[in-house]
Amino acid sequence: MADARDLLDAGERLGPEELRTLQLERLRASLLHAYEHVPFYRESFDKAGVRPEDCRSLADLARFPFTTKAGLRANYPYGMFAVPRERIRRLHASSGTTGLPTLVGYTDNDLSMWADMVARSIRAAGGRPGDVVHVAYGYGLFTGGLGAHYGAERLGCTVVPASGGMTARQVRLIQDLEPGVIMVTPSYMLTLLDEFERQGVDPRETALRVGIFGAEPWTEQMRREIEERFAIDAVDIYGLSEVVGPGVAQECVETKDGLTVWEDHFYPEVVDPITGEVLPEGERGELVFTSLTKEAMPIVRYRTRDLTRLLPGTARVFRRMEKISGRSDDLVILRGVNLFPTQIEEIVLRTPGVAPHFQLRLTREGRMDSLTVRAEARPGATPEAREAAVRSIATEVKNGIGVSVDVEIVEPESLERSVGKIRRIVDLRPRDSGQG
Ligand code: DLL
Repeated sequence: MADARDLLDAGERLGPEELRTLQLERLRASLLHAYEHVPFYRESFDKAGVRPEDCRSLADLARFPFTTKAGLRANYPYGMFAVPRERIRRLHASSGTTGLPTLVGYTDNDLSMWADMVARSIRAAGGRPGDVVHVAYGYGLFTGGLGAHYGAERLGCTVVPASGGMTARQVRLIQDLEPGVIMVTPSYMLTLLDEFERQGVDPRETALRVGIFGAEPWTEQMRREIEERFAIDAVDIYGLSEVVGPGVAQECVETKDGLTVWEDHFYPEVVDPITGEVLPEGERGELVFTSLTKEAMPIVRYRTRDLTRLLPGTARVFRRMEKISGRSDDLVILRGVNLFPTQIEEIVLRTPGVAPHFQLRLTREGRMDSLTVRAEARPGATPEAREAAVRSIATEVKNGIGVSVDVEIVEPESLERSVGKIRRIVDLRPRDSGQG
């Protein structure tokens, strides 16, 4: 049996000083590449009065302007690319639900780097060459399916490209093909759990050892639920199309203490979401990424809108980020109180008699916004248990978050199930009113 350290790739074996030196060298090259080949960056750097050569230390990155989704949209479709279209080997698009999609492109080298990072992620999660890997992230313009797929192939695994949907068949494939690893959104994993139970198959009896879950926020409570129900290790994978797709950061199975950022390729900062000021390690704010090696679409200081904090490395030389608590877009401001769906998830999942399925419904009467937490009863939960759950959730939200909400416990299997990224918030407020 190989020592765990023997499995690490060259990037993971760097010492801290070597890493900083490599990052600076790559950062300077990447800023220059962006400035020289993408008019958007040339204009934004010029406007901010900075030139690529002004970046003499990693801290100097803070002098460069941010890039936002609006900037990418304004340059749709090919305006952000730094290489001729003929050198772009593949396109993907972000899962944005409103307006123009954000198109991203990859050269051959970009695809190879991405596969390396996903392979590294699967290995950090406990996957090994020779494993059968069941990929139930959606295939298509979404980066989840193909990103996971090529990473698993790169690691030397046998890939089952199941994609999302056809849930009954997924359960069948998991029984017949005996994958050791599954890659899927946590919410779709719960849909699979229902299906196992419907088919009378014990989900703890499969060959699965590891689940690699991401593409949406999920909590420690959800980890425990999934680990217990499936008897597997559940670890977190993070990424976004604008940076590369899945495989930007990955939780290591031996520590399960947040996600190790693959910062030899993706340089993270956490900034104050309002002032844009870079925050010191350990402080919570908005995650910002700069690509260090991408050719087709270098990205400089991209505002992810994801909220987290950076922490020192443990299992690897690289820094970690805490599990994402939410996106600024998913922030609900209810009568002046800020609330994220993950906070409700924590409460719902520790309430007896309630299944791990819930939805947040926002309504407005007059000028008053209300939030109803709709959670499903576990099969067999008695009327008394359901009433106790209503009281307990309402009290915990009031005491823990500081706002009154309505709670409804609905029938088992009555809430919509996820086949990919779940939508937690159903906003029924009049269209023009918005939040706040
Ligand atoms: O969701 C890439 C991906 C696929 C990641 C499969 C992991 C697994 P997009 O569709 O561009 O890309 O959405 C990116 O999803 O900014 C976060 O808000 C959210 N997200 C992704 N991973 C996590 C995670 C893919 N582990 C957006 N925890 C990001 C919380 C996540 N949120």
